[in-house]
Amino acid sequence: MNVGIDKIGFFTPNYYVDMVDLANARNENPNKYLIGIGQTEQAVIPNTQDTVTMAANAALQVIDDSNRDKISLIILGTETGIDNSKSGAIYLQNLLGLSRHARAFEIKQACYGATAGIQMAKEFVNLHPNQQALVVGADVARYGVRTAGEVTQGGGAVAMTIAADSTILKLSKNSSVYSDDIMDFWRPLNRTEALVDGHYSNDIYQQFFVKTIHDYLQTNDMNLTDLSALVFHLPYTKMGLKGLREILPELSETDQKHFLSEFEASRVYNKRVGNLYTGSLYLSLLSLLDNSDDLHAGDQIGIFSYGSGAQGEFYTGTLQPGFKNSQRKKQINEILNQRTRLTVPEYETMFAQWPKLDAGDYHLDDLKDHSQFTFTGVNESKRQYQTKA
Ligand code: COA
Repeated sequence: MNVGIDKIGFFTPNYYVDMVDLANARNENPNKYLIGIGQTEQAVIPNTQDTVTMAANAALQVIDDSNRDKISLIILGTETGIDNSKSGAIYLQNLLGLSRHARAFEIKQACYGATAGIQMAKEFVNLHPNQQALVVGADVARYGVRTAGEVTQGGGAVAMTIAADSTILKLSKNSSVYSDDIMDFWRPLNRTEALVDGHYSNDIYQQFFVKTIHDYLQTNDMNLTDLSALVFHLPYTKMGLKGLREILPELSETDQKHFLSEFEASRVYNKRVGNLYTGSLYLSLLSLLDNSDDLHAGDQIGIFSYGSGAQGEFYTGTLQPGFKNSQRKKQINEILNQRTRLTVPEYETMFAQWPKLDAGDYHLDDLKDHSQFTFTGVNESKRQYQTKA
């Protein structure tokens, strides 16, 4: 059996702010944002999109008549949950018309949630090869206007189906994991913006990466050069580069160039979206699949997942013959290219319109949001979702 990622899709809303515009507005040298942080554009999330709608909009690209009835596990990885009790996965199941006999729930561990979901889905499909799982990582990354973390905001969703005969990436049986109680990034229940000790988080991320990749290679009797590329959790793309630089000295000059070139392919999309927390690693995987010219079926990819707080995991996947998909690439480039560029004041206004935690009942006009699924407010404390005809 080749249990792994069978389909992968991505959604981000229709607005972005250009990082040179943001740097100028914040009196920063644009190269700090473009090179020092490694971002060119940042997704801005309107109040008519939330974790559920973005997850559903991304899942539209991976659910069709060929697999809809097979989905019997629905996992939403998110740290931007919309209810303290009911999971977003149940709304997702309903919006997508998935089976009522599916098990649906949400997982939270900062940016690690989608990886936890994938690992759980892998075990599930191993036991039930005729069934499939839908795993979605969806988040809105908010730090606040004029904060140090502002440059690392963003949002969106990556949806994947996990199947027995995967066409994209067969998942490794083993992983190396490492966790510890670390206060590098957190969001108390009374806040819509995260708190972060960014430089400390960078250090912990790199430590966890080095620990888990070395443990994985040693335990599985592998060398770094058995891998054709590495993908990283990318809250901002420079962070992955910092991780990669930790292990480059272990490689020859030629291999270093190769890994650096694959890394560039793996951050093409992330540079234009910014942080989508749980989805970031899988957007980077998608970016690698779509933008690398050097990869072949059978190649092994190293995958590093990190969720602040903190949980790290390193595992690998083997590319399957269907990993390239020109239609998928075209669709993602259309999503990114057709977005509206906001001025910085327009971004600040949209950012401030994000619903407050104690907003009560309200109605949102979704006429400007042409996505298939939208959020239209709260009625009698119940969230309202619309499906466009
Ligand atoms: N040209 C090129 N690079 C420049 C530059 C210029 N003109 N000016 C600064 N830089 C570089 C710095 O050298 C630095 O690079 P380094 O990280 O390789 O040392 C980088 O830009 C960032 O500069 P720094 O002064 O460290 O920025 P900052 O103090 O504003 O903090 C973050 C940056 C990323 C720490 C901050 O945005 C943050 O905390 N973000 C949230 C991160 C997060 O979410 N972590 C948890 C999730 S895993």
